[in-house]
Amino acid sequence: MAKIIMYPGEARKETMNWKDAQGQHITAVKRNILVLGSGGREHALAWKLAQSEGAHVFIAPGNAGTAQVGVNVNIKPSDFEAVKDFCLKQEINLVVVGPEQPLVDGIVDFFKQDETLKSVKIIGPDKRGAQLEGSKAFAKDFMEKYGVPTAKCFKVNKDNLSEGCNFLESVKAPYVLKADGLAAGKGVLILNDLQEAKNELGKMLDGKFGAASATVVIEEFLKGIEVSVFVLTDGEHYVLLPEAKDYKRIGDGDKGLNTGGMGAVSPGLNTGGMGAVSPVPFCTTEFLNRVEECIVKPTLKGLKAEGIDYKGFIFLGLMNDGCNPYVIEYNVRMGDPETEAVMTRIEGDFADLLMACADGRLNEVHYAKSDKTAVTVMMVSGGYPEAYKKGMKMSGLDNLKEVVAFHAGTAFDSEKDVVTAGGRVIAVTAHGDSIEEARGIAYREVEKIHFDGANYRHDIGLDLMKMQ
Ligand code: AMP
Ligand code: GLY
Repeated sequence: MAKIIMYPGEARKETMNWKDAQGQHITAVKRNILVLGSGGREHALAWKLAQSEGAHVFIAPGNAGTAQVGVNVNIKPSDFEAVKDFCLKQEINLVVVGPEQPLVDGIVDFFKQDETLKSVKIIGPDKRGAQLEGSKAFAKDFMEKYGVPTAKCFKVNKDNLSEGCNFLESVKAPYVLKADGLAAGKGVLILNDLQEAKNELGKMLDGKFGAASATVVIEEFLKGIEVSVFVLTDGEHYVLLPEAKDYKRIGDGDKGLNTGGMGAVSPGLNTGGMGAVSPVPFCTTEFLNRVEECIVKPTLKGLKAEGIDYKGFIFLGLMNDGCNPYVIEYNVRMGDPETEAVMTRIEGDFADLLMACADGRLNEVHYAKSDKTAVTVMMVSGGYPEAYKKGMKMSGLDNLKEVVAFHAGTAFDSEKDVVTAGGRVIAVTAHGDSIEEARGIAYREVEKIHFDGANYRHDIGLDLMKMQ
């Protein structure tokens, strides 16, 4: 007999193709889903989840865009007690954690340890698993132990500074210095001059990035081209979500400052990027097979061996050097703005996929991705990633055609008009049969959106078109 889960007063929904923990088929599901976060990534996650059967989506705290696909809730993701109260009051079935900070701070452990939250599924690793992003030193030790290809490195603190300087002398420029902990996306320095690298190393150990740089990881510089590969795992099984290329620098031709770290609404989120393209032409089947064999499988094996119960996203920041993948970094969340491209290429019921992930049944669900190319162009505030103004009225949003506009840093003003509320403001995603077609549509629509000081890159996807 199929089991029926329904809340009082809910109309019966279509039969769902999934089973509960006892293996019984479940029909007529009503799913209350809470997405934590407030950026473009969270709008894209909420947008996709809202299309799932029976889904009612809440976003905490959300932005003016998420309000179009669900209900914004004025709760900070860092306030675990408030998140718990809301989950119980609203009978939330599934929590999807957008940013890394609550994961690094142990929101999953908080849920798992609380009897009253036992029935609430949560997507994300526990505190130990989140160390893959929360501590570069942990991630490097992990990769070394489980044979995951990555740059050679040396870990330095105040006690072994002279050995650190010796390591710098033993590698060639450019020199890569990384703060061990989360430093709002700003903790990586790439320097050409050896003396400057030594000076910066000293400053980092002296607290340039606060406690995050009490330990510094010095890395060999990897050559190649970067790509973001996303894995959804239940700890046992995994699916590769669509990959994407991110454009991190503020200016055309990859010039100017890195946009990581200035976040969307809340400064401090370790995300950035001026655009994204998915799929990525140089991610051939051969390359992705190598990613699975050399990186995904050893990573999952390592997590299991360490006794880490990982049910969530693993974002592999990779360098492709002549078809050989190397891990630059692990993140324990989806990327931003990659998610704004990736979500539009996932077919089927995303809530089903995440529910299956939380239940350890990822092998049972059907997952497919669209063959279309998605191009995302991020519009940002003038001045970003340095100081910028907020509260600029936005216009043109109602005239958009053939695109999805994911809000990254927007809010409603007192007249209920949409205004800018962050550095990265809105991500416009278009689909096409080629990068050329998708970027043509994306840029045509971007030009319809206006706010004082609006800025965007004009070259998203151009480099990849040459490779097609
Ligand atoms: P991370 O925060 O580790 O992702 O580093 C930020 C950026 O620095 C990356 O997206 C790369 O562009 C660059 N980067 C980091 N580590 C390396 C490395 N070992 N070799 C070359 N580039 C790197
Ligand atoms: N797009 C890079 C990140 O999300 O960290």
